[in-house]
Amino acid sequence: MTTPLIRIEHASKTFTLPDGGRFDAVRDVTLDVREGDIFGLIGKSGAGKSTLLRLFNLLERPDAGAVTVAGRELTALSKHDLRGARRNIGMIFQQFNLLQNATVFDNVAFPLRIHGGQGAEQVAVRVKQCLELVELAAKADSYPAQLSGGQKQRVAIARALASGPAVLLCDEPTSALDAETTRALLATLRDINRRLGVTIVIVSHELSVLAEICNRVAVIEDGAIAEEFALNQPAGHNAPRKTALGRELAAFNAASALAGAHQELSYA
Ligand SMILES: Nc1ncnc2c1ncn2[C@@H]1O[C@H](COP(=O)(O)OP(=O)(O)O)[C@@H](O)[C@H]1O
Ligand SMILES: [Mg+2]
Repeated sequence: MTTPLIRIEHASKTFTLPDGGRFDAVRDVTLDVREGDIFGLIGKSGAGKSTLLRLFNLLERPDAGAVTVAGRELTALSKHDLRGARRNIGMIFQQFNLLQNATVFDNVAFPLRIHGGQGAEQVAVRVKQCLELVELAAKADSYPAQLSGGQKQRVAIARALASGPAVLLCDEPTSALDAETTRALLATLRDINRRLGVTIVIVSHELSVLAEICNRVAVIEDGAIAEEFALNQPAGHNAPRKTALGRELAAFNAASALAGAHQELSYA
């Protein structure tokens, strides 16, 4: 067994509410993500998926537990070292979070410029590489408002990859996109995983999205992992699922595998 690329150990996160009450958004979560995985977190709205994902790069600091990425325990790092370690972890969001008043080029250059250490020419070379990766080199001088939703999300991916991270965190990356654009974006993510070897953790409430690209998934209920399992197992290797979502996902995955096999046959 190789060491996992990401290890979350007994992580918990409690929010204090305006009325003084407390809400346990993440409860004692332990999970491993291996290098090269496309790991899915699925659950209903409010289950705690986004909060859990934000623990992976310490956008949200757990009240208890440890987060280790690529051999560095983030929860034990100084602010300065954490800033460096975060360059190894890119993130994209449902609403893209682009700078509206900056061009596509400047959006992708932004993380490189704030980190410093690279001259304008180096930055330009890297931005061009990243935009080519998501097939948007021709849009370098456009502004976000001039792009479609799918294009905006691809700019966000280019920006997230600019510092050459080993991990890409995706929070509902396709939830603002139509079905066809979703398929294209998932193909881009799969390509980034396969060609660049970037490990992906993807949060979604959509079965079809996770069934399409994940090799492993965890079902999140009330801030805890209800079950975790591999997808695309050979027939007969699937243990019975514990949760309704797990059963639906496994069935969806089996059905799309069949459809895929059928398609391959009819194209042969
Ligand atoms: N900063 C916060 N303060 C208080 N409650 C929060 C905060 N962030 C999230 N929550 C609560 O934690 C729960 C889980 O939220 P979230 O992680 O966004 O769920 P999901 O992404 O699965 O929809 C929700 O009930 C939400 O209201
Ligand atoms: Mg969410």
